[in-house]
Amino acid sequence: MKDLTIRIVTPDDLLACHTIEANCFPAPEAALTTSLRTRIEEYPEGFLVAELGGKVVGQINSGSTHKEDITDEAFKQLIGHDPDGRNMVVFSLSVHPKFQHRGIGGKLMDEFINMAREMGKSTVKLLCKHDLIPFYARHGFHDDGLSASAHGGAQWHAMTLPL
Ligand SMILES: CC(C)(COP(=O)(O)OP(=O)(O)OC[C@H]1O[C@@H](n2cnc3c(N)ncnc32)[C@H](O)[C@@H]1OP(=O)(O)O)[C@@H](O)C(=O)NCCC(=O)NCCS
Repeated sequence: MKDLTIRIVTPDDLLACHTIEANCFPAPEAALTTSLRTRIEEYPEGFLVAELGGKVVGQINSGSTHKEDITDEAFKQLIGHDPDGRNMVVFSLSVHPKFQHRGIGGKLMDEFINMAREMGKSTVKLLCKHDLIPFYARHGFHDDGLSASAHGGAQWHAMTLPL
């Protein structure tokens, strides 16, 4: 897509990223501004944004760990985050509703996977709702089944992409 840039986040992107989260997820599931700020400040190398015509319209953020169980809520505040961890764990992928269905989410995920591979990670892991399993399967993830997470009162599947 013309004018689409995928790049590492900067501190100035905080408000745009929060607005996207708030528009994409029900309130109990959306990342708080404080969580996003922590992820931007502490692990920018695991946080990409999609910019279209100079405007941030999508984002993907993560933490890293050696642990296989990724359901720990505190990890989302990067408590227990280890930059040298073998697993890259995606906390959220979101594209502003006005810009969805144009391939931007897929491009963010592809670039993220390339980045994780270049960082020498062994896997990318995430939790997702049932409906999005096919979307992630298209990017090579396999379904590990329902996880123990009850984040936001929902059920979440654990998915893994071996790199
Ligand atoms: C999931 C998401 C990031 C995809 O972004 P996108 O830019 O629309 O992604 P792409 O254009 O690359 O791919 C779109 C495809 O993803 C799948 N998809 C997207 N949302 C879906 C949903 N709610 N249920 C099922 N499939 C979905 C469809 O196959 C869709 O194909 P279509 O455009 O032909 O309908 C975006 O819909 C979003 O931000 N959703 C809300 C937040 C969310 O649920 N994020 C995932 C957290 S685990």
